[in-house]
Amino acid sequence: MQPSMAVVLSLLLLALLIPATTAFNITKILKKHPEFSTFNEYLTQTHLANEINHRQTITVLALDNSAMSSLLSKGFSVYTLRNVLSLHVLVDYYGAKKLHQITDGSTTTASLFQSSGDADGDAGYVNITDMHGGKVGFAPANTGDLNSFFVKAVVEMPYNLSVIHISQVLDSAEAEAPTAEPSKVNLTSLLADKGCKEFSRLLTATGAAKTFQENIDSGLTVFCAGDGAVKAFMPKYKNLTAGNKTAVLLYHGVPVYSSIGMLKSSNGVLNTLATEGANKYDFTVQNDDEKVTLKTKVVTAKITGTLVDKDPLAVFKLDKVLLPRELFKPSATPEPTSSPDAEAPGPDAADGPASDDDDDDEVADQRARRRNRNAGERINGGGFVAMGLTLCYCVMMAL
Ligand SMILES: *[C@@H]1O[C@H](CO)[C@@H](O)[C@H](O)[C@H]1NC(C)=O
Ligand SMILES: *[C@@H]1O[C@H](CO)[C@@H](O)[C@H](O)[C@H]1NC(C)=O
Ligand SMILES: *[C@@H]1O[C@H](CO)[C@@H](O)[C@H](O)[C@H]1NC(C)=O
Ligand SMILES: *[C@@H]1O[C@H](CO)[C@@H](O)[C@H](O)[C@H]1NC(C)=O
Ligand SMILES: *[C@@H]1O[C@H](CO)[C@@H](O)[C@H](O)[C@H]1NC(C)=O
Ligand SMILES: *[C@@H]1O[C@H](CO)[C@@H](O)[C@H](O)[C@H]1NC(C)=O
Repeated sequence: MQPSMAVVLSLLLLALLIPATTAFNITKILKKHPEFSTFNEYLTQTHLANEINHRQTITVLALDNSAMSSLLSKGFSVYTLRNVLSLHVLVDYYGAKKLHQITDGSTTTASLFQSSGDADGDAGYVNITDMHGGKVGFAPANTGDLNSFFVKAVVEMPYNLSVIHISQVLDSAEAEAPTAEPSKVNLTSLLADKGCKEFSRLLTATGAAKTFQENIDSGLTVFCAGDGAVKAFMPKYKNLTAGNKTAVLLYHGVPVYSSIGMLKSSNGVLNTLATEGANKYDFTVQNDDEKVTLKTKVVTAKITGTLVDKDPLAVFKLDKVLLPRELFKPSATPEPTSSPDAEAPGPDAADGPASDDDDDDEVADQRARRRNRNAGERINGGGFVAMGLTLCYCVMMAL
């Protein structure tokens, strides 16, 4: 495959991430309000629109064209703009009425910036204060500098979506700090810094880190098991061959970007970086109220936190290591917390995944195939659109 074709293909595959069923379309809604046209354009450019559409309960603090032009004059990269704008998207519902009825006059609420991986402490929270005379002020919670004010309610769809016009950009040094392009992120250091030190160590030791790193640009979701979970898994891990060690690690990467909102809005089967031919190495995403669980035939793991969520890279923390049925026996007990037998090979267990010295074209092809399979299988989960899939196969045929 030519590199340019690979790029075209990734773009097409990104286009697959169009939600089939969401409660609203923020782009369409804001189109009716031309005073927010720049803001609207940047919600799309930063991919925040997609994330907003996948949320069930959200408040958008909209900036009018003049506030946006003063923000844009600072010359931030699109990645920094994404952080700044994500601070203006609150993961709770605040209509005009609720703003004026805040208990004790002041509250803090989480924004999408909080889960970006770039917000330390309470930098990702927004302080909302009902001030004297019915004035409502907004500020990043870590500054408390209430310099932006409620202007008017633009759209209210209780309790799914509220769009509020605020007077100016929330001033946050953290959100405005230079941020690395996702592909320049050092994934192993990031994992180690954010609570998946052991998992990161294994990625480096096996060389699986390289495959993860190479997949970031085209969209990658990593599910890392916490240190305790990895330590508990080590006796079984040590029993695996080198190839199977790599496979079990690659099993924790999905070659498409999925935010928590996307995971919550679609149940279904996901292929992984370990998926190859007859070796399915897939697992099922299942939502249980607010909890997202990942089910293999052997174990059910729960997402316990978001470490990074910055399109095209998302990293979530799990309470357990994912055990593929290709390498581990399903436990006899319904809730396999304890010790499923480690050594049993599945009937179709075969070679591990692509090794580092594989021909690049071959690797790219395999990746494309995995992506396609994800796209196909996710249709049932309501996540992706069949049209794009057909388009993709056509491109594949043309190569
Ligand atoms: C949302 O609306 C915009 C503008 O009307 C449109 O271009 C886009 O395809 C829509 N997105 C979805 C997911 O339907
Ligand atoms: C919000 O900021 C104001 C002004 O700095 C401060 O007085 C108030 O305590 C803050 N509210 C919360 C809930 O932290
Ligand atoms: C809010 O979202 C829920 C679930 O997606 C949907 O059933 C309901 O109709 C939505 N309400 C509005 C006002 O759009
Ligand atoms: C990530 O950082 C580690 C430790 O600083 C380094 O050894 C490794 O080569 C880096 N990886 C990449 C892909 O830059
Ligand atoms: C490792 O393999 C040996 C030999 O097959 C087996 O006896 C032992 O139970 C295995 N250990 C674990 C933790 O699965
Ligand atoms: C993985 O393990 C199975 C047995 O559990 C073995 O048959 C297979 O050869 C191993 N694959 C690699 C690449 O080591």
